[in-house]
Amino acid sequence: MESHRHNVVLIGFMGTGKSTVGKFLAKQLNWSFTDTDAMIEQKEQMTIAEMFEARGEAYFRSLETKTIEELLAEEHQVLATGGGAVLAEKNRSCMLKNGFVVAFIASPEAIIRRVSSDQSRPLLQGNLDERVHSLLEQRKQAYDFAHMTIDTSELSPERIARIIMKRLKAIQLKAMP
Ligand code: S3P
Repeated sequence: MESHRHNVVLIGFMGTGKSTVGKFLAKQLNWSFTDTDAMIEQKEQMTIAEMFEARGEAYFRSLETKTIEELLAEEHQVLATGGGAVLAEKNRSCMLKNGFVVAFIASPEAIIRRVSSDQSRPLLQGNLDERVHSLLEQRKQAYDFAHMTIDTSELSPERIARIIMKRLKAIQLKAMP
């Protein structure tokens, strides 16, 4: 088996469903699931919002890189990464080298609907509609490097997990002699 199939890395803008789908997918694969944001919060004993406030975004980004590197040294896991994890080239190459990278995209409406119930994201403070549109514009091509892209706007987490499972099986079959 090629190395990239030993992990699945979920990338995508905030509110595209990475954590929710990741849990389903990990269960189906019988692999472990880790949300890198949750892991960083646990390590630092503070929320990401508190971290941005007390230490700044750069501090969070360096922890994010470290966490991704450490986790991807292991195998058989599904990782849900933060929406900005793809901005560093170092993170992108680590993901591509060690995992099957799946990008989730969604319409601005679906994103706004999903994130509006959670006020904790530091980059979405202020006018939510405006913040989402402006960040989506800034990150227009940021998720394009993935092996596979899924528009999650209208799909249930179970359905998305099934689509990924199907693709993983297809890759495996192709690799067989
Ligand atoms: C961020 C996304 C967040 C979190 C942090 C920064 C981003 O993760 O890592 O608030 O830059 O897009 P989610 O995508 O899980 O919300």
